[in-house]
Amino acid sequence: MAMTFAVLTILSFSEVSNLAAMHDLNNKQHGSTISLLLSINIHFKSINGHRKHLLLKISPQDWRKNMVSLGIFTLISTLFLVLAAVPPTASSSKLSPNYYDHACPKALPAIKRVVEAAVNKERRMGASLLRLHFHDCFVHGCDASILLDSTSAFDSEKKAGPNKNSTRGFEVIDQIKLEVDKVCGRPVVSCADILAVAARDSVVLLGGPTWAVQLGRRDSTTARKTTANKDIPTPFMNLTDLINNFKKHGLDERDLVALSGAHTIGSAQCFTFRDRIYSETNIDPKFAGERRLTCPRTGGNSNLAALDPTHANFDVKYFNKLLKKRGLLHSDQELFNGGSTDSLVEAYSSDAKAFWADFAKSMVKMGNINPLTGKKGQVRLNCRKVN
Ligand code: HEM
Repeated sequence: MAMTFAVLTILSFSEVSNLAAMHDLNNKQHGSTISLLLSINIHFKSINGHRKHLLLKISPQDWRKNMVSLGIFTLISTLFLVLAAVPPTASSSKLSPNYYDHACPKALPAIKRVVEAAVNKERRMGASLLRLHFHDCFVHGCDASILLDSTSAFDSEKKAGPNKNSTRGFEVIDQIKLEVDKVCGRPVVSCADILAVAARDSVVLLGGPTWAVQLGRRDSTTARKTTANKDIPTPFMNLTDLINNFKKHGLDERDLVALSGAHTIGSAQCFTFRDRIYSETNIDPKFAGERRLTCPRTGGNSNLAALDPTHANFDVKYFNKLLKKRGLLHSDQELFNGGSTDSLVEAYSSDAKAFWADFAKSMVKMGNINPLTGKKGQVRLNCRKVN
């Protein structure tokens, strides 16, 4: 039938008219049956390349009537063709929160169970999992490229400056993948989606907001270490560089401030804030003194300090501390240093609801960066390796 539609559409009305006029128009058969038979016959003739023997006979009156129904028929078949021409991946190129509802309704509860166990064992793991999703999305999109180990074809992003000896939680992601594939009975859930859901579940477990995670991302078949070095922001950036970095990823100043609020949880290593506590002037001296106790001028590079004083709870203390010049990272304090983002930092510092709402919105926005959908990429069997 589709072939009939297709060939019929190629034939113009005048062609059909000429064909009909060439033949005896005596038959008094009726409307729609004739229309259908006529079209089938034309199709037959057309694909054989012969147009001499039109089998159907039709009166001029019936022909006029049939031209109307044929017109509608042709219009519908044209529409049919246009729809058929849309690539099958296009309809699936959008993420959806219900993506696994049919394929594996047990997937999301399974992810939550493993994240819960990991965070109960170590609160910081929630922060580490949230950061993994961020570092994944900022390198060519949220495609789980950060999880791939090096091969002869590419270097792992784990070796890039912002990740090396810093990003953590890879074993938890492996555990989630095993568990999810087990409950689903097959590998349907991508590692990229696991990262997005684990990030949300972590925030919730540490007392933060929840949101509907958009799903349907697929996994990359390569990693990009050079891009990771270039595209993940550093703690030494000034406000303009931070704004431009986020802009490059389709995120605005509001997203920058809201998402930096992720530093309400977790820790940072001495080498990432040493210059700030020894050389900067826009820092509370008492705070700098406290931080120097565990972060010496030389050595102790990996000594940890909390990113905010309540670093196991997702609250607004991070913003409160920025107002008091107690931001740990240079990049944190840049958000409140006399620039365009000051007012938003102030607003969030006294309005947890506003911060929560914006954080959730910005997480969805970040999670939508350049996903692989449809037939692009793959669903990895092992998050560390290409299939
Ligand atoms: C605005 C630019 C950002 C910069 C420059 C930055 C930089 C950093 C640095 C240097 C650390 C400490 C890493 C270490 O010492 O090993 C860190 C930790 C962290 N970052 Fe960011 N970050 C930024 C934005 C974000 C965003 C957007 C998120 C998530 C949405 C995020 C989530 C985290 C978390 C949760 C930690 C603690 C991780 C842990 O304790 O394991 N950061 N960040």
